[in-house]
Amino acid sequence: MTIKTEEWEKYMLHYVDTVAMTAPHKEMRKRIAARIHRHAGGRNIKVLDAGCAAGALLDDIVAVHDGGMHYIGFDQHEKIVALARERHSLDSSAKFRVRDMNQGFGDERDADIVVWSLSAYCMQSFEKAIQDSHTALKLGGVLIMVNPWNPDANPILAAHAEWMKHDASPVERKYFADRQDSVMHVMAFNKRIAEEAAAERYHFLKEGPQRELVESCGFRVETTTPDELEHTSVMLVARKIDRGKGEGHE
Ligand SMILES: C[S@@+](CC[C@H](N)C(=O)[O-])C[C@H]1O[C@@H](n2cnc3c(N)ncnc32)[C@H](O)[C@@H]1O
Repeated sequence: MTIKTEEWEKYMLHYVDTVAMTAPHKEMRKRIAARIHRHAGGRNIKVLDAGCAAGALLDDIVAVHDGGMHYIGFDQHEKIVALARERHSLDSSAKFRVRDMNQGFGDERDADIVVWSLSAYCMQSFEKAIQDSHTALKLGGVLIMVNPWNPDANPILAAHAEWMKHDASPVERKYFADRQDSVMHVMAFNKRIAEEAAAERYHFLKEGPQRELVESCGFRVETTTPDELEHTSVMLVARKIDRGKGEGHE
């Protein structure tokens, strides 16, 4: 399966300024950044962000991380990567690369953190995404993965609609009203993805079987949090361990 189509690229160019800016997405990125901060503890870290889109997560990490950072974001779409570079042109420690993640992380090794934020479900093989993350991480390094878990609905957009109704400020309402066409485009596209997902074209993080898979690839699962993100997504955090000793170093 490959989803590198013009339609996807068009969708992603909408997505980065619409869906990705909704409150649930912002909250998700904050939680990923908080996990990174907790793991890093002020140290110098190397972060690999698979399927990074326009690199919004980088801003959230920078906001909380108090050590040095070498960040590399990967995405398959040239225009998205160009946008990410443009938006982060002042951050010399951040790099963005055009890469099909079905081909793995290339020569990247010794990462402290590998993040798959709403992107592993697009991979041809979920298992390969986990194995490649293992190869790229140093011992004790951490895999953070957030995947949609409910293929039947469009929970992030539903949460977004609720937020618009009750909690959005006038400025936020105007921001989305000005982008109404994009929002409609994204919703139509997401509906199709949900239908394709129901036909099992995509991988979703399910507690039991995928936890076992992650462990069999050489990780110790630290948390899976199906309800932490209000039933929109599952966040999985797993540490690369020494298979012989069963432990990773902090
Ligand atoms: C739903 S978006 C998530 C973007 C961002 N990580 C976030 O959390 O908002 C999925 C991203 O994965 C990227 N992607 C999908 N398949 C990919 C592949 N084979 N290689 C690299 N990137 C891919 C898409 O281009 C898109 O930017």
